[in-house]
Amino acid sequence: MSAIQDLILTTIDAHGAIEDTAALRLNGQPVDQLQVIGVLNSLTAREVVSFTILDAEYWLLSEEGNKVVEHGSPEVMVFNAIPEGEDGISIPELQKLVGESYKFGQGAAFKNKWIKKSAAGFARATDSVVDSTRNELIAIRDGKVLADKIMTDYKKKKLIDKKKTSSYNVVKGPKFTTTLAKEETDISQEMILSGEWKTAQFKKYNFAPGVTGVVPRGGYLHPLMKVREEFRQIFLELGFTEMPTNKFVDSSFWNFDALFQPQQHPARDAHDTFFLKDPATDRKYPRDYLERVKKVHSEGGYGSIGYVMDWKEEEAEKLLLRTHTTAISSNMLYQLAQEKEFRPVKYFSIDRVFRNETTDATHLAEFHQLEGVVADRGLTLGDLIGTLHSFFQKLGIPKIKFKPAFNPYTEPSMEIFSWHDGLGKWVEIGNSGMFRPEMLRPMGLPEDVSVIAWGLGVERPTMIKYGYDDIRELLGHKVNIDMVQKNPICRLDKKMGREL
Ligand code: PHE
Repeated sequence: MSAIQDLILTTIDAHGAIEDTAALRLNGQPVDQLQVIGVLNSLTAREVVSFTILDAEYWLLSEEGNKVVEHGSPEVMVFNAIPEGEDGISIPELQKLVGESYKFGQGAAFKNKWIKKSAAGFARATDSVVDSTRNELIAIRDGKVLADKIMTDYKKKKLIDKKKTSSYNVVKGPKFTTTLAKEETDISQEMILSGEWKTAQFKKYNFAPGVTGVVPRGGYLHPLMKVREEFRQIFLELGFTEMPTNKFVDSSFWNFDALFQPQQHPARDAHDTFFLKDPATDRKYPRDYLERVKKVHSEGGYGSIGYVMDWKEEEAEKLLLRTHTTAISSNMLYQLAQEKEFRPVKYFSIDRVFRNETTDATHLAEFHQLEGVVADRGLTLGDLIGTLHSFFQKLGIPKIKFKPAFNPYTEPSMEIFSWHDGLGKWVEIGNSGMFRPEMLRPMGLPEDVSVIAWGLGVERPTMIKYGYDDIRELLGHKVNIDMVQKNPICRLDKKMGREL
C-alpha cells in the first residue's frame, strides 16, 4: 500500500474524516495533491471513501511586488531620495538616484502631494511618508486578503497574482477499511482449487473512454501462422486429428522406402534432399516391417511385380531433413496397422519440410506443407475429391480442379488446382491420391482398407492472401519483423476464395 494511501486511511480512521487534504503531512512535509487525487480515485472506485473537491484561491506577489517589499514603492523611493529643505534636488540627480522607478514614482509622489517643484527641481512637501503599498504587499504575502478594491488595483498594477489549488474533503465510503486487500486482476488455477476466488476482490474493468490499456509488445502472429491456424480450424471442424510432426529429421526409410519410392528415384538425390552428416544413419524402424518393405520393392507382392531391383538397407537408414510430411503419415499409418482391430482415422498436419533447392522468388529450401490422410474401408477417389471440395469450400475457394498426375506412392494421383481470380488462371496448390497397396499392405493394413491423402502448400495461399510476390519476404532471413508486427491479428476472411 502506498504511504499516501496509508496516511489517508489511518487519518480517516482516527478522525472520522479529512476536512482538507492540504493539511496532511508526511514526514513533516505537505503531500502532493496530485498523488492524493490518484489514491482517492482508486479508493472511491472501491467505495472505501468518497470525496469532494475543495477549490482554493490564494494570492502571490509578482516579481515586481517582491521588489517593492525589498526596496520600497517607487513613490517612497523618490521621496527618500530628495534631501530635506526647500532647495531640494535637480531632476537629473533624482533620476540617477531612483533609477528606473523614477518616472512612475515621481508622478505618484507628486499626486500624493509628498513632493513639490522647487528652484533646483523637486523638494519634499511633507516631513515623513508611510509606505502603505509596501505594508499591504507584506500583509498579502503573509496570507491576508485585503479589500477587493485594493486587490484588483494591485493585480492591475501587476504586483500580485491569483493562483488556484485543489485539495479534497474526504469521508468514509460504505466499504471503508484500513486493511485494504490487493485487488486481483486475474483468476488463477490456485484460486479456483483453494476456493479463494469466492472471497477474493477483483479489480473492476476500466471502460472509461480513452483508456487503451497496455499495448502488448510481443506475441504477434506471422501471416503464415494465421493461415496455419485457419487450416487447422477447418480440419478440426471436419473431425480430423492433428498428427505429431515435431521432428525435422527422419530416416529415408519413413520418408521414401515405406512410401514405396524406389531407391533410384531422383528425389533421393542429394541435389533434392538434405542428408545428415553426423549422425548419418539410424535404424529405428521395425525389422519385420523392414523385411516386408524390402520384399515389395525388390520382388513385389499384393499383385505387384515391385521394382525388380536390389533394395539396400544402407539407403533406407540414411538420415535426412524430411522432404515432405508424408514421412509422418507413413509412420502413423504403420502404427495404426499395429492396432488389434482396424479403426477408421482422419489425420492432418501442418509443418515444415526441406528440399535442397536454389531459393528464388517462388522457391524456398524450407517451407510448410499441409497434409491430410483418411483411412477407412471402401474409400474411393470420389471420397478424396469430396473431402478436398469440402475443405476448400470451407476455406472459401469454391473453384478447384484436378489433373491426373504421378506419385510413386499413390494410384490414382491428382494434382490440385484452384482458380485465382486476380491472376486469372488456375494455380497448382497441391498433390493427392490413393495410397498404393504396395505401401499399405506391408504395414499390415487389411486388404479392404483404402487410404486417401493429399499434400498442400501453405506459402502459396498466404502469398496470394497477403499480397507477396517474393516468397523470401515471407520466410527466412529477409522477413521484416516490422511487417509481422504490423499485420493485424485477423483470420483469413472467407472472401479469400474469390481472391485465390
Ligand atoms: N507428399 C506429396 C508432396 O510432397 C504430397 C502428397 C501427399 C501426395 C499425400 C499424395 C498424397 O508433394
